[in-house]
Amino acid sequence: MDIDVTAILSLVLGLIIIMYFLFQPKNPNSPPFIRGWIPWFGAAFQFGKAPLKFIEQARIKYGPVFTVYLLGNRFTFVTETEDVLEFLRSKEADLDEAVQQALQHTVSISKESFHQNRSMFFKLMIQQLSSSNLHQFSETLCKEFHEHVEHLGKEGTEDLNDLVRHIMCPAVMKTLFGKNFCPTTGEFERHFQNFDEGLEVGSQIPEFFLRNWGKSKTWLLNVFERIATDIKKDKSSESGSKTLIQHLLDNLHGNEASGYLLLLFWASQVNAILGAFWTLAFILSNPSVYKNIMEDIVSVYGKAGEARIEVFEDNLKKLPSIKLCILEALRLVAPGSIIRKAMKPLKVQNFVIPPGDLLMASPYWLHRNTKYFPEPETFKPSRWEEATLKKNAFLDGYLVFGGGKHQCPGRWFVLMETHMLIIILLYKYQFTLLDPMPKQSLLQLSRVCQPDGPCRVQYKLRE
Ligand code: HEM
Repeated sequence: MDIDVTAILSLVLGLIIIMYFLFQPKNPNSPPFIRGWIPWFGAAFQFGKAPLKFIEQARIKYGPVFTVYLLGNRFTFVTETEDVLEFLRSKEADLDEAVQQALQHTVSISKESFHQNRSMFFKLMIQQLSSSNLHQFSETLCKEFHEHVEHLGKEGTEDLNDLVRHIMCPAVMKTLFGKNFCPTTGEFERHFQNFDEGLEVGSQIPEFFLRNWGKSKTWLLNVFERIATDIKKDKSSESGSKTLIQHLLDNLHGNEASGYLLLLFWASQVNAILGAFWTLAFILSNPSVYKNIMEDIVSVYGKAGEARIEVFEDNLKKLPSIKLCILEALRLVAPGSIIRKAMKPLKVQNFVIPPGDLLMASPYWLHRNTKYFPEPETFKPSRWEEATLKKNAFLDGYLVFGGGKHQCPGRWFVLMETHMLIIILLYKYQFTLLDPMPKQSLLQLSRVCQPDGPCRVQYKLRE
């Protein structure tokens, strides 16, 4: 008997697709469900083209709560600020359960190591990066910024994003990891860029399908493994104060240090560099804001000169206008999503979200809620004047650093480093934008937006 294998396979596949559509359990209390038409992939192809755009279009079409089926997981998006604030406070919406597998895929931290070290890692970050502890970083950071800014020379032209990255990355690395442990060579940069670009897909799909990305990840993990070994051997810290990474290595259980170092390197660099880039770009593209800031800088430091200026806590307090610009720029370019996992049925509006769903909120879109931020698309640093910044509180509805008890522990550090770098750069150089202000790219969810085009600047020493 002749068997037509192709026909049988087509029949089976057809049946699977029909069953997939017909026998999905439907619950009248469930949010609208966007499942796409390909089993397991779901709506991944439409979503992947421009995830942030997809979220906004789905909100307009389906309402404030909707579920999207992607790569075998249910992602439920919650788009009203009040609902998001509530789930961020809820004990039934868990961060650890939401990210454990993604961390295993992206930085090879096993489930066992994650559960063993999770609480220590977070407590250590909160404690070491708290606002009262920042003074321990400021001297090194200021010195490192000056050293790297000096590489710019008297004048030049460069893409602003690259300019910021080439200063911030080594300076922060030397501050957090230690002076002798800064691997930022050209090869490192290439692998890190490749790793970073594929991170979102790499967190969901087996590494087997992402050969190039996997190679860069392995390369980086090997570098961080060597760094961890060198730091452990280094005796110089015994006499002086320890770096953040030395504290981490002293407290880590097991042999997976490289994953934690790669994770921390990513967390401390990617958003911070983009945030500083956008803040400078917004300042330079708003002449009146730029002019006022320069007047403030001159009133504190006097006219431009060769000497390295000191930029410590007291100086930062004298230049609050720059901090308002940082917070406002971050509002406009905030990360595309934050994530939790529903551990029990969760009521949001009139819907019940089933346990196991990944709960998603988008700081990027929430920061465009006119109730909290009138004229949301306008860069308006003055809206921050009314915020109680002195008490370390942000405006209501501001979620650039996430929310609830798992807010970003690096938030005070990043505000300080960005503030410091901007003062040093603007004190030393006069900048002119050569390209129109780029728009925010809507392609990535897990970090601050990238620019959608070049943003070259011309700079020369101020007279
Ligand atoms: C503009 C810069 C930054 C932005 C926008 C940002 C944003 C975020 C967000 C949204 C989260 C997740 C919070 C949540 O789920 O509620 C997070 C987590 C985290 N961030 Fe940041 N971050 C920035 C800079 C930094 C820096 C400079 C560091 C370290 C020095 C850092 C370290 C971390 C760590 C370790 C976590 C994970 C915390 C955990 O264990 O749960 N971040 N960040």
